[in-house]
Amino acid sequence: MNEKTLAKLEARLRYYEDLHLGLFYRNRTAVAAAPAPEIPISSRDRAEAAAERSAGKEISTPTHAAAHPPGQPAVEPSTPLTLSAQSLFEPAERVENDTLDRIRADIGDCTRCKLHKSRSRIVFGDGNPHAELALVGEGPGEEEDRQGLPFVGRAGKLLTQMIEAMGLERKQVYICNVVKCRPPSNRTPEKDEMSTCGPFLERQLMVIRPKLIVCLGSVAAQALLGTGEPMGRIRGKWFDWRGMKLLPTYHPAYLLRNPNAKGIVWEDLQKVMAELGLKSSRKTGRKPSA
Ligand code: URA
Repeated sequence: MNEKTLAKLEARLRYYEDLHLGLFYRNRTAVAAAPAPEIPISSRDRAEAAAERSAGKEISTPTHAAAHPPGQPAVEPSTPLTLSAQSLFEPAERVENDTLDRIRADIGDCTRCKLHKSRSRIVFGDGNPHAELALVGEGPGEEEDRQGLPFVGRAGKLLTQMIEAMGLERKQVYICNVVKCRPPSNRTPEKDEMSTCGPFLERQLMVIRPKLIVCLGSVAAQALLGTGEPMGRIRGKWFDWRGMKLLPTYHPAYLLRNPNAKGIVWEDLQKVMAELGLKSSRKTGRKPSA
């Protein structure tokens, strides 16, 4: 093995060590082969998926969430589905006494993927480390990169309004992203970037163990659920993620481009509020207008 390869291998092993990964083999076949029940798609879902596609958001082909077997009924939209994460590395074991500080320290001044080259700051996450609700976005944008905080740009302002409309304060929830560094020109994070950074997100969520996780946009939902299903098919539905309830909904940036989708996001958020026993702080109980 030449010196360059050896150095690369050493860096990779150090990275696994940071992630507290001891096992490098995992049999994913059984999960991949398990068909998930079909989720009925309405024409509105289709229109939204098409709108999302035309807005330049990636919609990949479904992977293991295949059509329901013939003769079996489609699953009710409210039925929790269980999809196991496949697209991210998973810590083989729970990290003993893991903390957010330890995760941040393990990330360090990260150069593990190419995103480090153009970032100004690592955007780790922000909010209540004991939050009942965690919101997961895709990756920092320009303003987030400048401030080192998640969701502080235009989409962030809308997200704050959404949180407040739910009867919560921003500081009561935890907000983070799949990737911690801004992708150049706000492009969608690439697979290798997500699989490099994703384990840190997993550790954050495992430490916080919120009651509910809301994935903002298809990138976060697909990364955590390990599915290629488009947002139009999975939004507003509950999934199990490591014993926590996870609900995907549209990204606030999508809402800025498609204000008509605010109504359905508000429906999704009302499900979250019901789970948390919250009443909207808004007198009208209406969706945030932004
Ligand atoms: N979009 C995201 O997905 N995350 C942020 O932090 C900001 C915008």
